[in-house]
Amino acid sequence: MKPQDIRTGSLWIFGYGSLVWKPDFKYRRSLVGFIRGYKRRFWHGDTFHRGSDEMPGRVVTLLEEDDTCTWGVAFEVTGSQIEESLAYLNIREAVRGGYGTHMVEFVPRDQSQPSVQALVYIATEDNPTYLGPASTDEIAAQIAVCRGKTGYNIEYLLRLAEFMRQSCPGVDDPHLFSIEKACLAVIRPLLLAAQKCAPAVN
Ligand code: SIN
Repeated sequence: MKPQDIRTGSLWIFGYGSLVWKPDFKYRRSLVGFIRGYKRRFWHGDTFHRGSDEMPGRVVTLLEEDDTCTWGVAFEVTGSQIEESLAYLNIREAVRGGYGTHMVEFVPRDQSQPSVQALVYIATEDNPTYLGPASTDEIAAQIAVCRGKTGYNIEYLLRLAEFMRQSCPGVDDPHLFSIEKACLAVIRPLLLAAQKCAPAVN
């Protein structure tokens, strides 16, 4: 991040993965909106939060692509929140997640709000845990069974899809929604089998 961003006393941080539903740092305000020129893909591997060394989970990263955009949430941190949030996110996203930082232009959905420069965490293919593309069914099957120190990989997927439906109504995200559908198809029979095995309650 450029030092002058701190000197203004305000920094915007854009989230497009778990940050949209679980920022876990203090912020002044948040806005739903999008960044242009990037697509969101479940192409990054996660051996800490949502997977393990033996069974890496799949989490989202951003890939540059013209004529596309990615929706999420931008959080404004001010004063001491800047250093606190950057220290926290450095561990969560960079050290444990393998993401690097970039600056992007964030466009709020609320058109009365101006666009701002925002810090975003992106994992690239030179990262050792990067997994790259796979079919929808392969990605869904992996997410259905992985679990890390922060929780189940499927929770990450379902909460992100829920955020898109609730906070960005009418915005399509075919990659995300097709993986959600395929993942639910994988786990539905398992849930039904578990229900059948559960002892009957009198
Ligand atoms: C992350 O922000 O990538 C990790 C946190 C989580 O999976 O809940």
